[in-house]
Amino acid sequence: MNKQKIIIDCDPGHDDAIALLVAYYSDQLDLIGVSTCAGNQTIDKTSKNADNLLRFFGSSIKVAKGETDPIKRKVKTCPEIHGESGLDGYDFPNYKEEYDSRPAYQFIIDAVLANKDIIVVTTGPMSNLALAILKKPEITKNIKEIVLMGGSTTEGNITPVAEFNILVDPEAADICFKAGVPMRMLGLNVTRKILVTDEVVKEAEKIGTRGSDLFVKLMKVFNENQRKFFGLEYGPLHDPATIISMVNSKVFKFEPMHVEIDTTDTKFLGKTRCSASKPYNCDVAVSVNLDEYWAEVYKHLRRCN
Ligand code: BDR
Ligand code: CA
Repeated sequence: MNKQKIIIDCDPGHDDAIALLVAYYSDQLDLIGVSTCAGNQTIDKTSKNADNLLRFFGSSIKVAKGETDPIKRKVKTCPEIHGESGLDGYDFPNYKEEYDSRPAYQFIIDAVLANKDIIVVTTGPMSNLALAILKKPEITKNIKEIVLMGGSTTEGNITPVAEFNILVDPEAADICFKAGVPMRMLGLNVTRKILVTDEVVKEAEKIGTRGSDLFVKLMKVFNENQRKFFGLEYGPLHDPATIISMVNSKVFKFEPMHVEIDTTDTKFLGKTRCSASKPYNCDVAVSVNLDEYWAEVYKHLRRCN
């Protein structure tokens, strides 16, 4: 079977970490590279976390680091949920840090030009991909699809209307949504239903692999922080939704919509306006099968040993 080539641009991040794990261990996807953006933590911290995770998996991929700030704004980080390191809860060995010599946007340009029909996955603010499109607009012809975790058809999580990844760099999201590339959006309206309940943690504990140990340790801190700062009983595992939607078509249902990003400096900043009656530019996830979702997570945790 020909594996689908993908690259992931991420800001690990507890849920980004599990997205990377599922992508790396998938037998249907070929993860050919990883770039990082500032978001859950500063660019140095998200890059260090991505690098740690790839070394932990035994991958030889070198992370391409992104910019310090979004395209037009200053970065907003989220230490309340992801901690000071951006990935609190797991102590990695002291791996030697080694990065791709290219900035993230250049890595994305090169990867897309060298691989027709590649899928670009973003699980953080879309700054790097937008920059790549601005610098080399012709890359859009090679991208089969952009699959993102971000936005919402309903309410936000940082403001009443805006989701974190879109709000941090709304201009970048706007550029990506207008690029004319097929898009698949997994937003809060579905990912907030994917809760890391006690049962999920218990099920993962039973697996007994290095991957499940990583998952359990990370999720305990993630849940604790969600409780402390957001008053949520369990944390939502947003980012793996992108990868899981590609490896199992039964997990999410999508509807064709028009999605537009609000970039005005008003209370609507970062809102993803989703409409079924305007011209289609995005498949938007509208429902999730939780049993299928967790079965995919467990399957990939089992493979990480
Ligand atoms: C998104 O924001 C980040 O904190 C998570 O990693 C996820 O990508 C959810 O709004
Ligand atoms: Ca993320």
